[in-house]
Amino acid sequence: MTLPIDIRDRELRSLDQFDLREGYQEDLQGVLVARREIDDCVERLAAEITADYRGNSDFYPICVLKGAIRFFVDLTRAIELGASYSEAVVNASRYGKGPVSDTPEVQIFDPESIAGKDVLIVEDILDEGHTLAALVDRIEEHDPNSVEIASLFSKATNREVDVDPTYEGFLIPDRFVVGYGLDYQELHRDFPHLGVIDTDQI
Ligand code: IMP
Ligand code: MG
Repeated sequence: MTLPIDIRDRELRSLDQFDLREGYQEDLQGVLVARREIDDCVERLAAEITADYRGNSDFYPICVLKGAIRFFVDLTRAIELGASYSEAVVNASRYGKGPVSDTPEVQIFDPESIAGKDVLIVEDILDEGHTLAALVDRIEEHDPNSVEIASLFSKATNREVDVDPTYEGFLIPDRFVVGYGLDYQELHRDFPHLGVIDTDQI
C-alpha cells in the first residue's frame, strides 16, 4: 500500500490565492490542501482499491455520514471493479449535544446486509481513533468476510486507540480542518479545499 502524503510541516496557503466566495476570509485561516491535490489523491486511492478488489461483487463500501459524503462519491466514481456491488451508509458521531464522548453513537441502517461482505469503511478523518475503532467493532458483529478502512485525512498526534487504515490519503498537522465535507459545528462542509479554522476565534 502507498504511504499517505505527509504534510504535517506544510505552511498554510493564503485564501487570497484562491477564487472563493465572500465570507471565507473571516472564518478560515488558510488552505492546507487545495482541491486539485485532494482530487489527485482520491484518484490514487481509487486505483489502489480497484487493484485490490477487482471483480469482487462482495465489495461493500460504507460511507460514514456526514463528513465522508464527498470523499465517498468521488472515490466510488473512480473505482472500476468490473463487477457490480452494493453500498451503504452509517452514522457515527462523537460530537452530538453535550460533551465529546469516547464512545461514538453508531447507527447501522442495514445490518443484515453485512454478512459475507468485503467491507470498506470510507471515513473523512482519523484523529483519536475512537470513531473508527467503534465502527470496526460494530460492523464485525455482523459477520463480514473482511473489514478495511479508507481514511482521506489522518492526524497522528492525538491517537488514543490503535487504528490502521489500509488506504490513507494525507497525514496532516494537528489543526482543526474543514471543507470537502468536513465541518465545524455543521458549517463549512461546502468549502471546496481543505481549510484550517481557528476554533478559539469563533
Ligand atoms: P476520532 O474519534 O477522534 O478519530 O474522530 C474522528 C471524527 O472526528 C471524524 O469522523 C470527524 O467527524 C471528527 N473530526 C476530527 N477531527 C476533525 C477536524 O479537524 N475537522 C472536522 N472533523 C474532525
Ligand atoms: Mg466523521
